[in-house]
Order: sequence, then C-alpha cells, then structure tokens
Amino acid sequence: MNKYSLLSINDLSTHDIMEILHDARVFNISQQDWHLPMHNALAANLFFEPSTRTHYSFESAEYQLGCSVADFNSASSSVTKGETLYDTAKTFEAIGYKVLVIRHPQDEYFKELEDISIPIINAGDGKGNHPTQCLLDLYTMYDEFGTFEGLNVLICGDIAHSRVAASNKDALERLGANVRFCGPKEFEREGFEMSDIDESIGWADVVMMLRIQRERGATLGEMSDEEYLHQYGLDHRRYAMMKENAIIMHPAPVNRGVEIASDLVECGKSRIFKQMENGVLVRKAVIKRAFGYKPFRED
Ligand code: CP
Repeated sequence: MNKYSLLSINDLSTHDIMEILHDARVFNISQQDWHLPMHNALAANLFFEPSTRTHYSFESAEYQLGCSVADFNSASSSVTKGETLYDTAKTFEAIGYKVLVIRHPQDEYFKELEDISIPIINAGDGKGNHPTQCLLDLYTMYDEFGTFEGLNVLICGDIAHSRVAASNKDALERLGANVRFCGPKEFEREGFEMSDIDESIGWADVVMMLRIQRERGATLGEMSDEEYLHQYGLDHRRYAMMKENAIIMHPAPVNRGVEIASDLVECGKSRIFKQMENGVLVRKAVIKRAFGYKPFRED
C-alpha cells in the first residue's frame, strides 16, 4: 500500500491530522490558487455506492487543484461483466492514474488492494471508515472552538451502522475531546457506551445527528418518523436545552423530520451546510498530500 494512502483516520497521527486541517485552512484563506503540475495529476473517483457530497466535493477539490478527473460509473463499467475491485483499481493504475478515491459497500474493501501501488483515499467502506468526513467534521469543530481539548461531543442516532461515528470516536478521543453516544438500543454498538439524550444535550458543545441507515438493514419496526424524532431526534424541546454556543452537525444526507426537525437544519446553530463547504477544503488538502506534497506548515 502506498504511504500516502488514507484508509482510516487511524492512519493519521494527531500531528498529521493537524497538518491536514492547517492545509485546509490555508486553502480557505489563500488568495492564490495552488495547482498540481497538470501532466502528473490524474485522479479517478471509483464510487460503488451512492454519494452526493463526498463524490462531488472530491471532484470539486480535484478540479480546483488542476487534476484531470475520471468519473467512473460502476453500472456502465466492466464491473458488470464480473471484473473485480482489484482488477478495476489495477486497470486505473495501469492506464496512468495517480490517485484513486474509492467508496465501496464492503467493510475494509481496501484489504484486497494491498498490491496497488498508487495512493488510495477511502471515501467510505461499509460501516467501517470515512476518514475525509471525519477530517471535515474536525475542521468544522476546530474552526468553531479553536481546540479539541475538553470539547464535549454528543453523537446521536444510528451508531451501529455509522462509519462517521466510528471515525469520529477514534480521532476526537485522541485529540482530547469527550465523546458520548445516544440512540435507540437497536442501534447500540460494541465499544460505544450509550447515554441518554435528554441528560447529555445540555452537556454538549457539539450535537451531531446521524440518519438511520436503512440501506444497511437498520430498522425500528413500525415506529413513525414523528415518534422517532420525539424519542431520539433533535426536536425543538431538545434544541431549547442546548448550550448557548453549542453547534449542530450532521454528515448528511439529512432525513428532515426524522433525526432532526426540518427547520433546525438551517437554524443559527446549524453548521450542516458549512460542513459540506469545509469538505472541499479538507479534500484539497488530502489530495495534495496523496500526490506527495509536503504540508504547508512543517513543525
Ligand atoms: N456525508 C456523506 O458521506 O454524504 P454522501 O453519502 O452524499 O457522500
């Protein structure tokens, strides 16, 4: 595996994470475009699962850096003729691509790609990892509070199926934040201690809501959307219990009126669309790193 691959947030030390966040910040404030040399900048986005934010923010980041981008469509590719993920990735390497961004429904799909020499950026594997979502979440929190030390983060909802919950737990705890989880008992996960949302909502500096991942088999039987919102979601009663300076986050897509009341999605405390904006900055930093460029700041 290439040393610039990013498969899990655990591939990065806290020092690496802070360098990426710093590079993203430089991309945000810099007045000058920073471009890769064109002749060497071929990136392929291989998405085997639906995506809006991750797919198109990687594409935006790649174009902004001057990459030539291959937008792969698995339904019209030779995957439909039985070609494996390994042979697909190997093909892109053979025909000159220098970086692969991959989302795939299989947990740790990247283990079968160990012989691929070019960097692979994991854009989500099953319910395993989503390192660039984690980095953009971290960027959004750091931008807001200027530190992770002692920050209280409450992650609510379908913890069992969420690669966002898993990636954020690992990174935030290493960076000194306190992380609590809450949600229905059907969505509990080994290693994730659950707490009561009503007891924790006033404790949190960050309230991160997660949708129910029905595509991974998550179900709550006959429970209506209204009942879910009332029992486990961020409704107006709980919103009123939040700290004055607390923020609301959500990796999206949002199911409005299920895990969060629709009109809270764009309320003053919400950073949900800001997270998407930050996703492009962070992905620019990750692509720059994948092409072997040093951090803007080295200390
Ligand atoms: N947050 C996230 O991964 O969104 P997409 O599935 O739209 O990429």
